[in-house]
This record gives sequence, structure tokens and C-alpha cells, in this order.
Amino acid sequence: MEPCKGSWKVLIFVCVLAVYLWMFFVDYSHTLSQRITLQRTRISVSARNVPHLQSLEQPKLEEVSDGAVSRFAKSQSASPRNSSDTLKGNVSTSKYQTLKQQGLMPSRQLPTALIIGVKKGGTRALLEFLRLHPAIRAAGSEVHFFDHHYVKGFRWYRRRMPPTMVGQITMEKTPSYFVTSEVPKRVKHMNPGMRLIVVVRDPVTRAISDYTQVKSKRVKMPRFEDLAFLNGSRIVDTSWVPLKIGVYVRHLERWLQYFPLSQFLFVSGERLIADPVMEITRVQDFLGLKRVICEKHFYFNATKGFPCLLKSEERATPHCLGKNKGRSHPYIDPMAVQRLRDFYRPFNQRFYQLAGMDFGWF
Ligand code: A3P
Repeated sequence: MEPCKGSWKVLIFVCVLAVYLWMFFVDYSHTLSQRITLQRTRISVSARNVPHLQSLEQPKLEEVSDGAVSRFAKSQSASPRNSSDTLKGNVSTSKYQTLKQQGLMPSRQLPTALIIGVKKGGTRALLEFLRLHPAIRAAGSEVHFFDHHYVKGFRWYRRRMPPTMVGQITMEKTPSYFVTSEVPKRVKHMNPGMRLIVVVRDPVTRAISDYTQVKSKRVKMPRFEDLAFLNGSRIVDTSWVPLKIGVYVRHLERWLQYFPLSQFLFVSGERLIADPVMEITRVQDFLGLKRVICEKHFYFNATKGFPCLLKSEERATPHCLGKNKGRSHPYIDPMAVQRLRDFYRPFNQRFYQLAGMDFGWF
């Protein structure tokens, strides 16, 4: 009996040991596989660390819910792509996900640079010129997320962006962002590191351009002079939106409450016409991109009176912007123009000071 009792004890001990060893092995192999996954992620990330894009790190989605303002955090961790791409446990098992992780599959990203204004400043021209750059992908039409569609959430916004590969910048332009009071706070909430581009143009010419656009769509439209001044007086009607937009300093002051000046680039609408390469070079530098867009992309179309493109993403033949860009303006009484210039002068001066750039408007 005695040896038999002893062998039972040994058997129980061996069983318990086996269970412990099995548990340890399962636990260890799980940790090991996690380590391998992380290692792979790190490798793919370091491969992606294109130097000029390090500063343009994408924001990362923590949780996105349509119809609600989503929790959103600027990416602090390794991957500049969506967290869903890298943090799922089974990522490494899916070939598609792995390719996506490594940036070999295009995926839609939230923009990291915005053209926020101004309406009629030359925003379309700037965007079309920038699209010549292989590292820039931009939404074709104005998205109006931060002013009209904000409640739809970041997922909605991201779906409106073109797919990008790693190393490409996602952009969009909506000129009303610059003048809409809620926008700066919302942009900051999404990405405090957002690059902000503002194309500005002489506010008087801009107002006339704005008026010309509205007039082209309406059969009956009062004269510009009748809308710009109160009851035929010399007093400027500052509540008239085309004039309000031109007080750039007011709008900039609001944006500067949320973003440092270093995150802005001011593009001269006048220079964009006279010397597009110079302005585009400034934008490429600002975005940390190689200077790819140059003289060879443009020609001056004498009939239109504007720089046009020799070829673009969409068309391989020389072409200009649409008919509604670069329209001829109606005759405006020079006295009215002068009065408006006088009105804008102090605001322009303050704007130059704040922006750190003199645009040379009269
Ligand atoms: P006008 O049509 O009044 O001349 P936006 O795209 O922001 O609405 O700005 C439109 C303005 O862009 C046009 O106003 C035009 O002056 C300017 N612009 C700048 N570069 C241009 C280009 N290459 N072709 C056409 N318009 C251009």
C-alpha cells in the first residue's frame, strides 16, 4: 500500500506541474506573437518615415461616431495611419491589412492641410496647381465639413477624401472656413497641427469678384455701388457679406486664438496670377514637399489672361480653369472703388502686421 500511496502523490504533482507548464506556454506564446506583431508594425512604420512628412503626422481616430462630435486624438504613437489599421489583434493574419499597414494599399485619411480661404481669392487655381504634385491628394469639390456638415462626424469627412498612399498629403479647400466663427475651434479639435493656407487678394477686387459671381446667377441684381454703401450715402455697408469677408484681420485674429502663426501660410492671389511658380514654391516648402511643380507645368494663356496648365492629373492637354474663374468684372464707379480702398486701408495695415507680410494693396 505504501509505495502505491507515494506514486499517487507523484502523479498528482506531475499533473499540476503539467497544467502550470501548459498555462505558462500558452501565455508566453501569446506574448511572443504580440511582440512579433508589434515588431512588424514598427518595421513598417520606420519604413514609412519619409523625412519630409514627419512633421505632418496624421491625427488618429480613437473612436468615431457619425452624428456626434467624436473623440479624436492627434497621433502620438508610431503609426501615422488609422489606429484601426494597426491595433487590432488579428491584423498580421490578414494580408490586406498588412499591405495597408505597410502603406502599400491606398486608404482615405483626414486632411492634414486645408485651404481655408478666401472666397474669390484664387483658391481653385491654387488647389488645381497643387494637385500637380505627386505627394498631394485633394478632394475635388468643396467639402464644407467644418461649417455645414460637422455633425456628420469625422468618418463622414474621411470618406470624402481621396485614397492616399503613405507619404501623400490629404488636402481639401473650403474658402468659407476662414470667415466662419465656429471653424477654428473645430479644426483644432480634429488636428491641432493642421497646416492652414489662406489665399488673399485685394479686398476691393475680391468684393467685386464676389458680386460678379452672384450677378451671373441672378437676372435682376442691384448695382455694386448701391449694395456697398448705405442708402446712396458714402457710408460703407459693413454688414454686406462681400465687404465683411475682406476685413481679413478680424478673421485672422479669431484663428490666431486657436493656432500659432507658424501654422499659416498666406498666399498672394495677385502673385498667383502674375508668378504662379513663386507662390507654389512657397506652398511646397510650407508643406515640407520637394519642389516638383515648376515653370514647365504652366503657360500663360493670353486670351484668358491667366496662367493655365500644360497638363494635369485629369487632362493631358493644355487647359485653363473653368469659365467662371477669371471672369471680366462690371464697370464700377472709380469714386466708389476709392472710398472702399480708404475703408480697407487700416484693416489691411493691421492684417499685414499680423500676417507678417505686406501684400501691397493700395
Ligand atoms: P475672377 O473670376 O473674379 O477673376 P476662387 O477660386 O477662390 O473662387 O477665386 C477665383 C479667382 O481666382 C478668379 O476671380 C481669378 O481672378 C483668380 N485666379 C487666380 N489664378 C487664376 C487662374 N490661373 N485662372 C483663373 N482664375 C484665376
